[in-house]
Amino acid sequence: MTFRPLVDAFGRVHTDLRISVTDRCNLRCSYCMPLETTFKPREELLTFEEIARVVAVAAGRGIRTIRLTGGEPLVRRDLSALVRLVTSIDGITEVALTTNGLLLAEQAGDLRAAGLSRINCSLDSLHEEGFTRIARRPGLANVLAGLEAAKRVGFESIRINAVSMRGLTEAEIVPLARFCRQEGFHLRFIEFMPLDAEESWSADRVLSGAEVRRILEREIGPLVAEKPVDPGQPAVDYRWVDGGRVGFINPVTRPFCDRCDRLRLTADGQFRNCLFSTTEWDVRGLLRHGGSDASLAAMMDQCVAAKHAAHGIESPTFARPARAMYQIGG
Ligand code: 5AD
Ligand code: SF4
Repeated sequence: MTFRPLVDAFGRVHTDLRISVTDRCNLRCSYCMPLETTFKPREELLTFEEIARVVAVAAGRGIRTIRLTGGEPLVRRDLSALVRLVTSIDGITEVALTTNGLLLAEQAGDLRAAGLSRINCSLDSLHEEGFTRIARRPGLANVLAGLEAAKRVGFESIRINAVSMRGLTEAEIVPLARFCRQEGFHLRFIEFMPLDAEESWSADRVLSGAEVRRILEREIGPLVAEKPVDPGQPAVDYRWVDGGRVGFINPVTRPFCDRCDRLRLTADGQFRNCLFSTTEWDVRGLLRHGGSDASLAAMMDQCVAAKHAAHGIESPTFARPARAMYQIGG
């Protein structure tokens, strides 16, 4: 059979699959989760075997990189077993993890041994008070211990994600940058997107990457743009002349939809072609009703074919997806 990549109507080739393994989380970040919620029952989540089957079919269609997300992926029992399954699939070149770091100290060694390539850790504040204000639960010390452990077991180029919200995160910017510079972590600021469960998003609450950059240049020193390592990467990275890097992911003010190479699988087994999709494809139903690999691949084709040119957040007709970030996967 000839190889057919997953190409959408705009010629975008899909090589990255983001897999949410749970909608549960041990934090309640205001840009993501509601304070009170009910989670999907266990039987609605894909099993590791089901996820591995999807990955194997996706790899046959050109998916090369996998990112495991949540909710918080490390609250799913024995995540390193999934990492082991997925890294052994032919064609998969990289398995990365996005975590909030709370449980990283105890799991970093197993994840590394299982073949995990990279870690992105969310961290919005270096002060317990700021951390708890943003995440609405404590845990800073655990995250810092998790980052140390990740370094110790040999993870390289550890990234820190910090969401920028006007009126909430300004005071955290410079301390985070200084800390990451000192520790050798690659910090990236992400603009607040309309994916918060409480629907508090509005355009004026977006603290843009350009504004954050101006603050960093004023307080720390001039930044020089770096050439992107990967042409598809959403982040624009900068370097301080005297050392240290910082990047900006600006989905709101500088959409990168034209370069998007991502597909998503939710924890309850639905394919999405975008964070902002309002349509989902029921992979779980297919898997549990005897669907063939060919029908699974056909579902991926349908999902990719339906992808819109751009998210359209700035459009007056923009409609938020029914699900929030923790239910989709970052
Ligand atoms: N806007 C932007 N980024 C978000 N994240 C979660 N919710 C939002 C949002 N509404 C980020 C977190 C996490 C990643 C998975 O997504 O920082 O690191
Ligand atoms: Fe949990 Fe991550 Fe959402 Fe924060 S952003 S509530 S850590 S899933």
